[in-house]
Amino acid sequence: MGKNTLTITDNRTGKAYEIPIEHETINAKHLRQIKVNEDDFGLMSYDPAYMNTASCKSQITFIDGDKGILLYRGYPIQQVAEKLNYLQTAYLIINGEVPTAKEYDEWSWNITHHTMIHENIKKFIEGFQYDAHPMGILVSTLAALSTFYQDAKEIKDAESRKLQIYRLIGKVPTIAAAAYRHSMGLPYVYPDNELSYAGNFLNMLFKMTEPKYEPNPALERALDVLFILHADHEQNCSASAMRSVGSSHADPYCSMAAAAAALYGPLHGGANEMVLHMLKEIGSKNNIPSYIKRVKAGEVLLMGFGHRVYKNYDPRARIIKQISEEVFEVTGRNPLLDIAIELERIALEDEYFIKRKLYPNVDFYSGIIYQAMGFPVAMYPVLFAIGRASGWLAQWQEMLLDTEQKIARPRQIYLGAKERDLQVSKAKREAVHR
Ligand code: CMC
Repeated sequence: MGKNTLTITDNRTGKAYEIPIEHETINAKHLRQIKVNEDDFGLMSYDPAYMNTASCKSQITFIDGDKGILLYRGYPIQQVAEKLNYLQTAYLIINGEVPTAKEYDEWSWNITHHTMIHENIKKFIEGFQYDAHPMGILVSTLAALSTFYQDAKEIKDAESRKLQIYRLIGKVPTIAAAAYRHSMGLPYVYPDNELSYAGNFLNMLFKMTEPKYEPNPALERALDVLFILHADHEQNCSASAMRSVGSSHADPYCSMAAAAAALYGPLHGGANEMVLHMLKEIGSKNNIPSYIKRVKAGEVLLMGFGHRVYKNYDPRARIIKQISEEVFEVTGRNPLLDIAIELERIALEDEYFIKRKLYPNVDFYSGIIYQAMGFPVAMYPVLFAIGRASGWLAQWQEMLLDTEQKIARPRQIYLGAKERDLQVSKAKREAVHR
């Protein structure tokens, strides 16, 4: 094998440069030595939307998009979903290893005992309009938490970070449930520490007058698996937002508010909501061909299809499709599933989708399960956010501990006006001040 370097010849000057290759990557900073003369700023790389730029070194999640492989800390997602619960997965993602029994007891005790929210946070949520989107409530309330936990600014203190991690993983479901109850005009339900993470969330959502809420075990497990499947997905839009805002040393509440805001968009975590609207719009299997025609004409997107990294079946979509059957045994079959399955079948045989390697992603089937479980459509991205909270925190902490990281600050190619004199006539200036 030859040398692990790249030789670049600058045809403007005829000079050759040897640049090291590490981890199949060149460091963009090494391009800066390539100059036409000493005053030259040096060569930059241009990569809108980070199509081919690694912004960090990470040890959390690995995706092989061509093979459809997803690993959390090296473990295949199928095994994690089968053998761990969500809180074990969150620990694994944040700390790198599956917790021992003692570590798990401490971890889950601390998270369970940080599920309560301050009564003023409840008042804050009550201030939203009755029809406020729960994702808007989540984003705002996460940012508002920053005003309650001012100690969270100690981002360099490991103990303080640990406390904020307990608080955030504990409180996100409580805020999510309060947002739902608010939209229904129902009183908020306090957490029940005797229930599991997913079971308590169902309690805070659906408890009515019964003294003790008993979650259905099949639905509780299905929700827990859905949280696991959404826990992390390496450098996606919201993880990048978390890292980017966190890189300015903002506290984790503000950083997570930014991450949740990024997730809200229909091209990211908001897609599950859009899939449901799309399936309802299609309405019946007979209408699928005409919908596919509109997708191919570029009029609409096939929501829940396609991914920046996966050019194969998203392994999370496969697991969700499997657990949907277990959910439907309890809730009854969601008729939208038949439309979704047929839509997938037709799309996967169509040249348009084959050529572009467009497959179902995590959002294609999740909404159908959420609907069967009784969640209103607007809650779907919020459910995504609950699972993803652990991933955001893992990415945030890894960024803070990485000595190669600094405040995120991309460069630009400036194509605007050259420096010029501002000419404003006296008459114009007087007109403005009148
Ligand atoms: N329906 C129809 N055409 C599509 C779709 C789609 N869902 N996704 C991509 N394409 C086409 C796109 O028009 C382009 O075609 P052409 O080469 O002719 O211009 C080609 O496929 C490549 O797409 P792209 O937009 O360059 O791909 P991207 O990597 O920038 O976008 C994506 C990835 C997820 C934003 C996009 O596939 C999409 O908008 N999908 C629908 C929304 C969705 O389901 N989002 C959830 C993503 S998974 C959950 C998460 O982690 O956020």
